[in-house]
Amino acid sequence: MVFGKNKDVLVHRWYPFVEGYSKEFIEDILQELPFTPQCALEPFCGSGTTPVELQNHNIKCYSFEVSPFMHLLAKVKLERTYDETTLIRFRNKVSESLARPMPDIRKKELIPFGDTVVCKDGMKKWNFHNSSLDGILDIRYAIRTEVDDDRYYKLFTIALSSIILQASNLFRNGKCLSYKKGWETRIISRDEIHRLFLNQLDTVIYEDVKTLSSQRATVCNADICSFGDVRKSIENVEDDSLDLIITSPPYLNSRDYTDIYMLELKVLQLLNSHEELKELRKSTLRSHVQVKYGDVRPIDNFRLGECLSDMRKSDKKSWNSDIPNMVCGYFEDMQHLFMAFSRKMRKGGVIYFNVANSAYFGVEVPVDMIISDIAEDCGLKVREIRKARDIKTSPQQSKALGKKLHESVIVIDKK
Ligand SMILES: C[S@@+](CC[C@H](N)C(=O)[O-])C[C@H]1O[C@@H](n2cnc3c(N)ncnc32)[C@H](O)[C@@H]1O
Repeated sequence: MVFGKNKDVLVHRWYPFVEGYSKEFIEDILQELPFTPQCALEPFCGSGTTPVELQNHNIKCYSFEVSPFMHLLAKVKLERTYDETTLIRFRNKVSESLARPMPDIRKKELIPFGDTVVCKDGMKKWNFHNSSLDGILDIRYAIRTEVDDDRYYKLFTIALSSIILQASNLFRNGKCLSYKKGWETRIISRDEIHRLFLNQLDTVIYEDVKTLSSQRATVCNADICSFGDVRKSIENVEDDSLDLIITSPPYLNSRDYTDIYMLELKVLQLLNSHEELKELRKSTLRSHVQVKYGDVRPIDNFRLGECLSDMRKSDKKSWNSDIPNMVCGYFEDMQHLFMAFSRKMRKGGVIYFNVANSAYFGVEVPVDMIISDIAEDCGLKVREIRKARDIKTSPQQSKALGKKLHESVIVIDKK
């Protein structure tokens, strides 16, 4: 199921999204279904694995994504009208612009918002060395001024996004961004940044555009890949219209996607202020503690009640006192979504729901079982909970729990 398998796969390789799943996960589902789906839904689109793969199989798929970066990525991957000649024409224009970089690029292109972007007096750590940031701003300027076709503007922006982490002093470290070892002396020149970007266009993007232009899809899921909070937007999907839902929501692991993809969001100017950042976090599923949710009343579920009671009794400390509210908010969001799924699905439709169990205060939260209860309460029928794999837990956590946490896929029918 892991995204790693997609790293050499057409289009999926345009940006490595570790939280995504592999295209084989979708293919296996299509193989086991006893019918050919007509209309599917991916409520948590991420990098677009589900709508892209379903499009490859000529299956219509609505999708929703709240992060402007992930939404842009998915839309770019779903677009099927690129051609090599136009790609090369814009590539050459951008390359010419990069060959004569402006000394005062920071007057032309705003540097990303925030206090830690570049080195200022007295700072101990910063996200980009000056040469890297100028190289990136040169590319952003060249794309903005030379690429006057929206489809290629977005495609080139995604090519830029794929080198941002490499150009920075940071790496993705599970829940957050951390500083690379030896980052202080690892300086990348402005020219080298340009080369990294052009190389991405000349290899991965060029080869894939060439392949894509020879295989036109009859279904295009790009226009029905919507930006926004699925908890609200799902109402735009017609009732009784879906026969398949495949998804992997954010896990109940207090990982905030806004934090993990902060560099891309800022550098691509998809987030431009602390207020916008706050608003984005508020629109995400309640799976993290970056937002204060206040007191959330638990939904009526026996297993959840037991977990909350065990957490209260536990002598183990948690790193954040808002965790119980997050847990309650997560299942309230799930209940809201499953009520909508039940209405939007046709009889005979199937849901594949990929989740992982979590643990807080030394207490396991059986997310797969609680979500199965919620689905049944909403009139759906749980066919099976398939264990997918164990997930990495810290040695302390495994010891406290006496077992490993796992990921599973819940298979649910609409009878
Ligand atoms: C586990 S990822 C999905 C990965 C996807 N299956 C793939 O292969 O790329 C979960 C996604 O849900 C998105 N998300 C979180 N809250 C959301 C909300 N309220 N509405 C829509 N999307 C949301 C996150 O931004 C993240 O991209």
